Amino acid sequence: MELMGKNSSWDLWVEESLKTLESKNIYMPLKPMNLSVSGQQYEDKYEAPTKFQEDEYQTFDGIQPWDRLAVQISMPQSFIQQLLSAVDFTTKNERDELEKLSSKEQQFKKLTLFAGNDFLGLSRHPTIAKATAKAAMEQGTGPRGSPLICGYTNYHIALESILAKLKKKEACVVCSSGYVANMSLLSAIGSVTTLLSAGPAKEEKTAIFSDQFNHASIIDGLTIAQRLGGVELFVYQHNDMSHLDALLTNCKMKRKVVVTDSLFSMDGDFAPVVELARLRKKHGFLLVLDDAHGSFVWGKNGGGVAEEFNCENDVDICVGTLSKGASCVGGFIACSKTWKQLIQIMGRSYAFSTAAPVPLAAASYASVMVARKESWRRIEIRKRMQEFQALTGIPVTTQIACVIIGDPDKTRRASQELLESGFFVVPILGPPTVPLNTARLRVTLTAVHTTEDVKKLATIISKYVRLQIPSSDTSSLSARL
Ligand SMILES: Cc1ncc(COP(=O)(O)O)c(C=O)c1O
Repeated sequence: MELMGKNSSWDLWVEESLKTLESKNIYMPLKPMNLSVSGQQYEDKYEAPTKFQEDEYQTFDGIQPWDRLAVQISMPQSFIQQLLSAVDFTTKNERDELEKLSSKEQQFKKLTLFAGNDFLGLSRHPTIAKATAKAAMEQGTGPRGSPLICGYTNYHIALESILAKLKKKEACVVCSSGYVANMSLLSAIGSVTTLLSAGPAKEEKTAIFSDQFNHASIIDGLTIAQRLGGVELFVYQHNDMSHLDALLTNCKMKRKVVVTDSLFSMDGDFAPVVELARLRKKHGFLLVLDDAHGSFVWGKNGGGVAEEFNCENDVDICVGTLSKGASCVGGFIACSKTWKQLIQIMGRSYAFSTAAPVPLAAASYASVMVARKESWRRIEIRKRMQEFQALTGIPVTTQIACVIIGDPDKTRRASQELLESGFFVVPILGPPTVPLNTARLRVTLTAVHTTEDVKKLATIISKYVRLQIPSSDTSSLSARL
């Protein structure tokens, strides 16, 4: 079956589902609204005041003093002491102590952050700050309501159109977070069987194939989809394309979906997207990529992992978040116009949750503009990856360098030594985030770390490398909770 970009069977099923919604009179369109500028007479200024012009968004050719602030933090000394003495804050007394600590006046220790997801280091960018402040001064937080009621403004529309363009899709749905985006999309996918069953044919279920290590928001979205009754779930071994191929070959259901993270947040590896594209041609499934960690970071234009591997046309629906590479908050689903219509009605967490405040939509828009133009940031990340690999010997394929140590105590000790030396790296000790006995340091490299930062960090990490277990040994371990 040859599929070029469009997945024609799925297009028909989605159109049929929309017809059912229309026939039942439960189709509720988005209500786009332009906002007026405060202080001006509403009657005089009915036109949209905000122009999203490229030249308003100043960009820079290389690292600037403010960029470094994105990875420089400080923490109360006494809290650090507690972390160093391995208090795990699981008992009530220890948690009460923690609360007291954060309110006390005390000394702070400066730390370099290697734990956040602000991969491009945009969180202190003045252009984004200005766009946020301007929108806040002009609009306050904007109308409060679901996008189906009154939360869908010219700011959200502009953001959707720039994201659709970036992901080379017809349309885009902006959600209040990446978590909400996955929940909404998967409940919309789950609704298709039910909607088609309301027509003349008795419909069989939809088969969804999900990677064992997919993000919690996908797993929770699948739970909702299953609850709707129209979905059968198949979990395949992490990145194991032979396993996926065998499951697809044995599955006789006609409607199939494969959903995967594009870049796994706790393992730092890419999904084999080229191989997935090949399997999509063979089996004709709907390919859904959660590009939370890849968007803005990978691909020449920051279009994400599919752009990096030159297979954007093979991805039917691309989920993303604005909280990582774009340094803001919010999520999105880049898709066809018909999927957008279905998601806005059947994506429950989209329809029943308040839209993002206007200043955040403005911030995200500015971020997407800056991320696209300041391509030097993508180059810098790759340099930091190469340096980290050369100094530690740990193979690094993405900006998330995963140092799997295995033993939780040793992993905690490594993070404590890093903390004492001025580096904040989070130890991931076990379930529900990663499987048992695969405790690890999750080191996130950014465009605004320096070679010097990486050198110092790598010196400490190298001591623990001999304790590392190869990540291939972990793929057979149980699925995430
Ligand atoms: C793969 C993946 N998908 C979705 C999300 C959720 O994104 P958000 O933080 O915007 O809710 C995350 C966040 O960690 C993620 O790693």
